[in-house]
Amino acid sequence: MVYRNDIINLFTDNKMVLDSATLEFIMSNKDPVKISKYIITFYSEKKIFRISMNLINVLFSNSNTTKKSVVTIKKISDQSTESKTKNSANLFRDYFINRFKKTKNLLSLKQSMSGATSIAKAFKRDGEVSIIGMIYDIKESRSENNKEATYVIELEDDTGFIRGYVNKSIIEKNPVTLDEVIGVIGHINPQKKYITINNIIQPDIPRNMEKKKGNRDVSIAFISDLHVGSKNFLRDKWNDLSSFLGTEHRINNEDIRIESLFVVGDLVDGIGVYPGQEDDIDIVDIMKQYEELSYLLKKLPSNINIYILPGNHDIVRAIEPQPELPDNLKELFSENVIFLSNPSYITYDGVNILLYHGRTFDDLVGSLPKMTYSTPTFGMNYMLKTRSLVPVYGGKTPISPEYETWDFIETLPDIFATGHIHYHEIASAYNISLINSSTWQSQTAYQRMHNFSPMPCILTVVNLATRSIYSEQV
Ligand SMILES: [Fe+2]
Repeated sequence: MVYRNDIINLFTDNKMVLDSATLEFIMSNKDPVKISKYIITFYSEKKIFRISMNLINVLFSNSNTTKKSVVTIKKISDQSTESKTKNSANLFRDYFINRFKKTKNLLSLKQSMSGATSIAKAFKRDGEVSIIGMIYDIKESRSENNKEATYVIELEDDTGFIRGYVNKSIIEKNPVTLDEVIGVIGHINPQKKYITINNIIQPDIPRNMEKKKGNRDVSIAFISDLHVGSKNFLRDKWNDLSSFLGTEHRINNEDIRIESLFVVGDLVDGIGVYPGQEDDIDIVDIMKQYEELSYLLKKLPSNINIYILPGNHDIVRAIEPQPELPDNLKELFSENVIFLSNPSYITYDGVNILLYHGRTFDDLVGSLPKMTYSTPTFGMNYMLKTRSLVPVYGGKTPISPEYETWDFIETLPDIFATGHIHYHEIASAYNISLINSSTWQSQTAYQRMHNFSPMPCILTVVNLATRSIYSEQV
């Protein structure tokens, strides 16, 4: 086993230093020592001592690997099928303390939050203060003095609780949810122990995010929610997908050669996921559903790499983070299938991609007024703004507190792809591409009952060289 310190030492022995992204890139490689020696040899000759991801991208775009993708996968979850931390209150406490600390660190870097004080110290002050806290409670209220609708937000940090009053207009501009860590600026009333909040600060997305491009002229594609085994799986359209993937296209004056396909969860329909599911499936054995999935993936061109991750319908544990498919299932698939956890962070030719099935959409609908099942990229934007894949705890998304606050988005991705809601939407958040991938299942009885029309069989294609995005109705 190679540890991060071994790699750091290897570089310092050669009088070189690494930034954290480069260290993660090296550690996610199959042979971290071998790739480190390769980098050291290349750059020591050039007398370059500070190694960044830009230099790594230059190195690999100049080397013989140009024709092959350079993909690194950061593992989040181990392969355990059960969460190791059932009923572990302490671990959940640590998990939220960690969320608080990580978000506080980010917020503290903001100029507006540079003078932030703890809740205990704020009570000793008068006038304007800034505080960073986690939202313990939030509710709308209308007091006699306040004609305008007001929200009451209870904030907590590691020194205490404070009640904050904030006008509805501020909340509408900056919606917040329970368990979110925010900065607030306002006037403290130390006698009555409350703060009148004038401004809410979230980690947010920097406006100057670079639009990072890949170093080769290839494209990648996204779909999701195949639900193989369901009576509503759109089998006929699968053949059309295969021929589309196997052909080079020219779209908007760009040559499109799809190298990889990402399937963002709910690979099969599963068994017993919801009451009455037996009426909706035509393959009742879950192993047979995966055999069918494997058969369908084999029908796609064999030169396409297929990255698959689980969703809430798959065989792995429902508690997030979800591990890759188990080894006995992996054996069913061909070599071009790559198994990922949910969520997964991968770097593809220098472009950072965050893949998350999207169960948390079910919690954001209901927590954020503007979030609906037809506005998934609003929710995705919100996850990036708050730096959490699961901003609200205790709802429909079961989470495990292991793996050190796995839902925290430490590094903002260049491409963020989700699925789950069977809609299709593409948006951009300051050069971050947001993709809610389309399903391969037609409208189910449950969706009909809820008057929801899915948008199936739309392939999303990203040209990595230009970062242009296309939607192709298959
Ligand atoms: Fe799902």
